[in-house]
This record gives sequence, C-alpha cells and structure tokens, in this order.
Amino acid sequence: MSGEIENVLQEHRRFPPAADFAAEARLSSEEAYQRMLRESLDEPELFWGRVARELPWMQPFERVLDWSKRPVAQWFVGGKLNVSVACLDRHVNSVRSGKRAIVFEGEPGDRRTLTYQELHQEVCRFANALKARGIKKGDRVAIYLPMVPEAAIAMLACARIGAAHSVVFGGFSAPALRERILDGGCTAVITADGSWRRGLVQPLKAQVDEALSSCPDVHSVFVVQRAKNEVVWSARRDVWWHDAVALVSAECEPEPMDSEDLLFLLYTSGSTGKPKGIVHTTAGYLVGTYLTSQFVFDLRDEDVYWCTADVGWVTGHSYVVYGPLSNGATVVMYEGAPNTPHFGRFWEIIERHKVTIFYTAPTAIRSFMRWGDEHPKKFDLSSLRLLGSVGEPINPEAWIWYHQIIGQGRCPIVDTWWQTETGSIMITPLPGLTTTKPGSATRPFFGVDAAIVDEHGNELGPNQGGFLVIRRPWPSMLRGIWGDMQRYVDTYWKKFEGRFYFAGDGARRDEDGYFWIVGRIDDVIKVSGHRFSTMEVESALVSHAAVVEAAVVGRPDNITGQSIVAFITLGPGFKPSSELRADIDKHVIHEIGKVARPAEIRFTEALPKTRSGKIMRRLLRDIAAGIETVGDTSTIEDYTVLAKLRAYED
Ligand code: PRX
Repeated sequence: MSGEIENVLQEHRRFPPAADFAAEARLSSEEAYQRMLRESLDEPELFWGRVARELPWMQPFERVLDWSKRPVAQWFVGGKLNVSVACLDRHVNSVRSGKRAIVFEGEPGDRRTLTYQELHQEVCRFANALKARGIKKGDRVAIYLPMVPEAAIAMLACARIGAAHSVVFGGFSAPALRERILDGGCTAVITADGSWRRGLVQPLKAQVDEALSSCPDVHSVFVVQRAKNEVVWSARRDVWWHDAVALVSAECEPEPMDSEDLLFLLYTSGSTGKPKGIVHTTAGYLVGTYLTSQFVFDLRDEDVYWCTADVGWVTGHSYVVYGPLSNGATVVMYEGAPNTPHFGRFWEIIERHKVTIFYTAPTAIRSFMRWGDEHPKKFDLSSLRLLGSVGEPINPEAWIWYHQIIGQGRCPIVDTWWQTETGSIMITPLPGLTTTKPGSATRPFFGVDAAIVDEHGNELGPNQGGFLVIRRPWPSMLRGIWGDMQRYVDTYWKKFEGRFYFAGDGARRDEDGYFWIVGRIDDVIKVSGHRFSTMEVESALVSHAAVVEAAVVGRPDNITGQSIVAFITLGPGFKPSSELRADIDKHVIHEIGKVARPAEIRFTEALPKTRSGKIMRRLLRDIAAGIETVGDTSTIEDYTVLAKLRAYED
C-alpha cells in the first residue's frame, strides 16, 4: 500500500476542463458549484427535497430525512412512487417517446434498438408475465442473465410490480448462485439458455438447473432464448420468456411503492464469510442515481451513453439502468468481450453508434493499453466527449493513456469513487468544472460529507493517510444487509462508534481537498474491479478434499489491479502436483466461478501464524508480491515456515 501512496504523490499533472466542454456543460462555474455544495451540506433537506420533487410521485413525501433510527436512514418519508414510472412512463408521455432507450449489440453481431415506448411495452408485458406466475409485491426474484436488453427489462418489470430483484452476475457458478437465491429467499429466477462470451456459449440455464436442485422455494424460471443451445426443461417450473410475454397485455399498472420499500438486493463480498445482500430501497436510491447521472456525466438529450459494466454489479444497476434511464438517456448495451471478434470491438461500437459518453473500469483500460494503440486508432472516436472510470484506483499511466488515446486529449475524465453500499457515485470530478489530477477521484459529490480520519475518528490533515468515512446519511445509501442487521451495524458503523459510515477504504486528502483512494484496508480483494473476500475464496478452497488449510491474499497485478494468490496446505496422503493444482483450480471455478480463479496456487507445509493462531496475511502478501518481509515477525509461531514458504517449489 505504501508503494502506491508514493506513486500517486509524485503525480503533479493537472487537467482543467477544456473551454469548449465547460462552455456547454451543465455546471461550469465554481461559484454556482459552491452554492449548490453549501446548500447540499448546510440544508440537505432543502437540497434533496428539491431534487426528489423532479421525479414523478404518486403520493408526495412528508419528510425528507428521518435519521432517528440510525444507522438506518429513511428518506422521503411517507412518499409513494414507482421507479419504473420514473424510468419509462415519464419519457413515454413526453417528446422522448420515440427516443432510443437501449441500443444493443450482441457478441455475434446482432443488433436491436428499443425506444422508450417499446421498452415501456416490453417491461409492462414482462411485469404481467411475472404476475401471471403469482409473483407479487415483496417477493424476491433472482436475475441471472447476460447483458441483453431483457436484463434491464426484467429489472424494471420487477420494480413495476414491487418485487425486489437480486441480480447475480452471469460469471458466477451454480453454487454461488444457489447461495444467493437461498439467502435472499427468491421464489423465481430469470435466466437465458446461454450467453455469448468470446465466441463460446456459456450455458446459463444449466447452472440454474444445478443451483435449483436444492432451492425448493423457486417455483418459476423464465428463460430468454438467446444462444439457442440445448437446455433441459422442467415443464412445471420453466417457461420461455417469449411464450410468457406472448399471452399478456402490454399495459400494467405500476405498483405504488413506499419510498422505503425494497427495490433490490445485490450481493457483494465483505471481509468475512458469506456474501452479503446489500439492501437498497426505492426513492433514495433513485434520487441518488438520477442526480449523479445528470451531473457526473453531464447528461444531455443528444448523448449516446455507454457504461460497459455488467448488470451483475452495482455499476450496471445504477449507471446502465436506473440512473441513465431515469434521465431519459440513450444507453448502449454490449453482450460480449472487448476482444471478440477483434481487439477493436469497443471502438467499433463507439464509432457505429456515435457514443458520446464512455464509462469503464481501469482494468479494462490497462488491457486496452496492452493490446496496443493501433486498435482504437482504426476507428473514429470523435463522437466521444466524456470518459469515466470506476471500480478501483486508476493508475496515472492508465489515466493518461485513456485521456490521450481514447479521449484524444479532448475529453474530461471522471474518476468516480463509490461502492455497492453507497448506491451512487460519492467522490468524483464534475466534468465542466473540476481540474482533474490523474489518479484522484477529486472531491465529494453534493451532499456527501466525506473525510479521512485516524483510528479514533479524528480528522487528519492534508496528505495523511487514514480511513475514508462518510459523516452523514445520503439518499442512496444501503439500508442494511439482508437478514443480518447486526452485520450491517458491525461492518459499517461499529469502527467509529456509530458516528460515521466506514467505507473499508484507505485514502488521503491532498492540500486541495482532493481524495486519493489507496485501496481496501480489509480482506477484500479487487480482481478486475470485481470484489471478493479472501475468506470466500478460502472456503471454496478448503471444501476441496485435498485441502486442509488455505490462505488467500491479493497480489498487485498490472492489468487486473490485484490477482488472487492462494497458499494451501494439503491433507495426509496428498502430494503437491500440477494435476492437483489444476483440480483445485477447477474446484474454485465450480464453487464460485472463473472470476475468482487464483492466479497462483502455492502449496506449503504450514501457514505463518501468530501465537494466537491468526494467519499472518501481511507476510503472505509480501511473499506473494515477491517483497522481502521487513515488518515485524516477532509474533510468528514457527520461523521456519517463512523460509519454507519462500523456497517452496513443487
Ligand atoms: O475500494 C473501492 C473501490 O471499489 C470498492 C467498491 O467496490 P464495489 O462495491 O464492487 O463497487 C464498485 C463500483 C462502484 C471501493 O470500496 N473503488 C471503486 N471505485 C473506485 C475505487 N477505488 C478507487 N477509485 C475509484 N474510482
């Protein structure tokens, strides 16, 4: 971590927004910004109340914020609305009715466009299809789909009838899907026969079948016909999407939802045990994603906006679906890999659809860099006017490449810091206003009271590294962890005795008040921006018959940010071998999915532990990264372990 701090400290380049961008931007005057910022912090109820009133309420709210049940906030108390109305009906009843809502490209090259009116109809149809199978307000529905329009349609259809969705990333395996279905108490699943990835079909339905072998409460599985691969069918349980929507009306009254009614669950990894179902509710989440989309992406009606995130992650929820659609934007969706069928696929899509706003992850940017400048250079990227980055710290080198090669020196970059838990962007440049520094997410968004504090919660001075905290509630914040409110309190609020929300990140704030996020300080690792807990991978490893003990750490990686390194001790009768390594690898893929596959598995006779039996992860991190351990090893139980770990080769 210290290496990274030094690295970003050396970054002195400054990028003020280009004059022509600023001239057209929604917000370009520091004075107007300061006024809004002051109001958002000094009179948050006035500020957020006004923003919220821009949305279509079925019943007006009585109170903007009730913080009396802290740490569970209630926003827009007493109000009723439906998120799908804000994302669809509002535009259908306006000049945007014929505007493109979703522009889709499949990996094999198929294309499909849905106007707001068409999307509205599809959502209403599918909402009726859900109802026809008995799904109702308050139920939870798992969505396990590729990046096809049906993913957005399914989410909005759930919202329309008041069922909560729980989207599970299509790269997760059957056991990971099952765990999430069971924890969320889902009674229906929406999936596809298969999805296209690097020219191959991923058999999603087969994973669902395996997952459901022990999910007795799931009574319905809706299946999108996407890849036309063969599927096993349960006549009682399974229904083709196209059959389900053929028989129903394209009109569906939206369910009036209380501001604090559940909108969705989204599972993410924490430092311990099983994934946690992050709870997001209706109005506050919508207000947060609506306003940030508008200001961070400077959205205008002419924009063609492309966020490359999968709907399986929070970025796909907030900035593919709810944020942009509530603003009536045209959203590009792409199903496949960026290097299929060629390395210029993304740039080709930008050229074809004249994408103006492009939002992606540092890990992708670093891959593009490695693949070479010749690929983007083959395509016309002149439509782009704004670039975004999300999911992990962006190293200045990647930032500069993104700025020069993709943005052609013209486009501001918004490096946005936020989390599954925060629901919407929290620290970010405002593109017409903020002078950016490569590697910094810059300043907090309106209403966000972020600070860097020490162990005791005291605010630290400029350039002192500490814990990133948020000191007051914000509308799109999580409302808890599904089924485990105590874990919510313990994870986010206990560290600073209920005073602040603790994000789990280490950061510093420079002399200009800019935030530099260093990374997680807990046992969360980010591989290609995807979040895993070391324990999650460890428990997958120890469920292999040969593995007695496992310790997983993150190792810095030039492309993926971090990669997973696993240290493993084998049980009696098992010997290290490349076959065993391959088998353990396969086992992790089966248990969690390819996304959690260790980059390296090291067999060891013992793991370094303190006298009290705690695995010394810091040592393992150093060893995995090839760094000589300089820290304190005085509590280590068995000194020989360290030497063995370093020397070990099978
Ligand atoms: O460590 C931070 C990192 O990603 C974590 C949140 O992960 P997740 O919930 O999966 O959400 C990712 C998409 C919002 C944070 O705690 N992170 C996210 N954005 C940035 C970042 N780190 C540095 N800079 C960012 N812009």
